[in-house]
Amino acid sequence: MKEIIKKTELKDVFEFWNSESCGERYAIGDNNKDKFISESNERYRLEPYIKSFANFENFKGLDVLEIGVGFGSDHSQIAMNKPKSLSGIDLTDRAIENTKIRFETLDLESSLRVDNAENLSFKSGSFDAIYCWGVLHHSPNTKKCFEEVHRVLRVNGFAKIMIYHRNAPTGWMLWVLYALFKGRPFRSLNEIYATWLESPGTKAYSVNEGKDLTKLFRKSDISVQLCFSDLLEGEVGARHKGFLLTVAKALYPRSLIKMLAKIFPIGLYLMITVHK
Ligand SMILES: C[S@@+](CC[C@H](N)C(=O)[O-])C[C@H]1O[C@@H](n2cnc3c(N)ncnc32)[C@H](O)[C@@H]1O
Repeated sequence: MKEIIKKTELKDVFEFWNSESCGERYAIGDNNKDKFISESNERYRLEPYIKSFANFENFKGLDVLEIGVGFGSDHSQIAMNKPKSLSGIDLTDRAIENTKIRFETLDLESSLRVDNAENLSFKSGSFDAIYCWGVLHHSPNTKKCFEEVHRVLRVNGFAKIMIYHRNAPTGWMLWVLYALFKGRPFRSLNEIYATWLESPGTKAYSVNEGKDLTKLFRKSDISVQLCFSDLLEGEVGARHKGFLLTVAKALYPRSLIKMLAKIFPIGLYLMITVHK
């Protein structure tokens, strides 16, 4: 099967995420405090598995880095759990500016800067813990990002990382829309994710490919999680709206998908914990 996936450059990724950070559309309120709190409430209502995976309490007393802070909700959860030090980076100015405003508004502390996960500006062995949710699959060289996580972690440090998993209802629905309905059934899931999910070039991995990305580490645990977009809940992706989506949401067999996910490893999220 011939895959037609254009080579993505970091500037394409930057342009996509600098026009709207993840979660920004849920920031509703008359003032900054209300906006940030409403966004966080909606985030953890739609995605309760974030808190159980991240275990934000475990960052207490550690030197922590978050890669790809986005709109800053998880970053504020880490800060509230009193790490020894906290740093946060993102590719986009927009994410860093919004997260700085969130931290000033909520009276929290972090050292925030624009940086690139493929070439982090920190010395080797700088952190006890790294958190990174939904970021590294957007960067053109995901393997290099994992090498950077390994480099800046201390020996015995750990990282919690979520990247996309290929075998997922989200991908199948997009395939129906952009391959089957367009008369192009030979389009692969890789091409679908790279072209129609989020930023150009977005990738999704199998569990074995995830293991391969983490092979530098002493230990890795990998599991698959069904997420809100697999269940057509919330605002499923900035790119998809309209009548068809409203109808699909009304008719979607959520209970069946949840039941299947108990038997088979399906779902968009690959939840990875690694130890150096
Ligand atoms: C889907 S958002 C996730 C943001 C946040 N972690 C969250 O869960 O809401 C992806 C973020 O990754 C950032 N990103 C993509 N490639 C990056 C890179 N190479 N270095 C740093 N950040 C990157 C984007 O700018 C964007 O803010």
